[in-house]
Amino acid sequence: MSEQAQAVAPPVALLSAVGIKKSFAVGDRQLEILHGVDMQLYAGELLALMGPSGAGKSTLLHILGLLDRPTSGQVFLEGQRAFELPAERRAWLRNQRLGFVFQFYHLIAELTALENVVLPAMIHQGRGAYRRDRRAHEHKAEELLVRFGLKDRLTHRPTTLSGGERQRVAMARALFHDPPIVIADEPVGNLDSATGEKVLELLFEEQARRKLSLLLVTHDERLAARCQRQIYMDAGQIS
Ligand SMILES: Nc1ncnc2c1ncn2[C@@H]1O[C@H](COP(=O)(O)OP(=O)(O)OP(=O)(O)O)[C@@H](O)[C@H]1O
Ligand SMILES: [Mg+2]
Repeated sequence: MSEQAQAVAPPVALLSAVGIKKSFAVGDRQLEILHGVDMQLYAGELLALMGPSGAGKSTLLHILGLLDRPTSGQVFLEGQRAFELPAERRAWLRNQRLGFVFQFYHLIAELTALENVVLPAMIHQGRGAYRRDRRAHEHKAEELLVRFGLKDRLTHRPTTLSGGERQRVAMARALFHDPPIVIADEPVGNLDSATGEKVLELLFEEQARRKLSLLLVTHDERLAARCQRQIYMDAGQIS
């Protein structure tokens, strides 16, 4: 391949939606929320998804994150049609290749910060195998939490952490298996702006350091402007 051909090699889509439709049953009617969404998340890019409340952003993110099924259409994850794979394989992909950060953290209340972060390994390995590798997992989780400024919060339970601290724990959990893709649905939407900015700086640093493909939903124009690319969704369609 010539140097010029290499320079214009097309970007690789790690995650893409093709013709995604999603309907929910409401009473005896089907309410269509996504009307055929096409989008790509390229390797290593920081992509902002914006749009008014109710546009369908979270619905789309749950499908891209393999947390919910589309009514029709395809999600390609690293070239594979994710919803045509056996459920176990899809669960493996969700565990190993994707990290998801929610607006409301979704931490397990009964577990400490450290235990919440190692949860993906517990789920992946099952109890027995997890116990064998426990020290290594805990060491890795601790490193992440320390990098996120939570050195003195390792054994705290979520209710004894501030919102910003909870979201940092949730980010550490999302990054635990070093996934190439992270999906974040308004990760600082529930935090005051100063705290949100700090939490987001950490996420952006990780994105750059790990060359993550990061899909970020935000209502904040300023934040979206810091992403390499912006896409807009309205009434169930990418505009
Ligand atoms: N399980 C469900 N059953 C019925 N309707 C649903 C369901 N989940 C979402 N919806 C509807 O789908 C639409 C899109 O919701 P979604 O949460 O995806 O919007 P959003 O773009 O993320 O909004 P926001 O910016 O407020 O988070 C809304 O009108 C919502 O009421
Ligand atoms: Mg939403």
